[in-house]
Amino acid sequence: MIIDIITIFPNFFNQFLETSIIKRARENQKVEINIHDLREYSESKHNQVDDTPYGGGVGMVMMFPPFYRAIKSLKKENTKVIFLTPQGKVFNQNDAVLLSDFKHLILLCGHYEGLDARVLELVDMEISIGDYVLTGGEIPAMIVVDAVTRLLPGVIMEESHQTDSLSNDRLKYPQYTKPEEFEGYKVPDVLLSGHHKNIDEYRKLMSLKTTIDKRPDLIEKTPLTKEELKILNK
Ligand code: ADE
Repeated sequence: MIIDIITIFPNFFNQFLETSIIKRARENQKVEINIHDLREYSESKHNQVDDTPYGGGVGMVMMFPPFYRAIKSLKKENTKVIFLTPQGKVFNQNDAVLLSDFKHLILLCGHYEGLDARVLELVDMEISIGDYVLTGGEIPAMIVVDAVTRLLPGVIMEESHQTDSLSNDRLKYPQYTKPEEFEGYKVPDVLLSGHHKNIDEYRKLMSLKTTIDKRPDLIEKTPLTKEELKILNK
């Protein structure tokens, strides 16, 4: 997958691209992430990318032509153009799974009070990362890139996808590692038993209990199946 990010703050992404799983995925050519400075697509003297709003009002509006040129020069046949905005659809794990099937994404990071609405005519999808307003679309873009990249084939062990929190609208079971006991805090006996069937049942039960306790809205959205009811009533 190729992801092109258009931003007025390219430096924002330096650490992100050079750290952990994203770094490794890039090195192993599972994903190519290119950062483009929007100012390079400005044709004005001072690389201007914003101006005052028509009709008056406070603040600045990001101009249409730099975005137009950037998108035009980067877009291919099967590109999905995404604008990060609090007005977009609130991003979830299912969206990440859907986006991970695309070969090419262009992410547009907005700023200031807003953006010339003509840009939206070139956009396939508007994404919000939650109902709050950030200073710009860079952190939202990183969130989308992170969530999508870890789903690409060969980036992390694929078994992890099935047990991800929120896959199938269920939260993940609790995990433990060494030591078995610390200051009286113990690991549940069943996990030390080596009995795989019991461990599997315990994890399914804990996944359900955790979801019911922490995210009852997910149970409402995807009701308990017969099998899940059986596990709970055992
Ligand atoms: N830009 C500013 N706030 C945002 C949000 N919540 N989601 C996506 N982009 C944004």
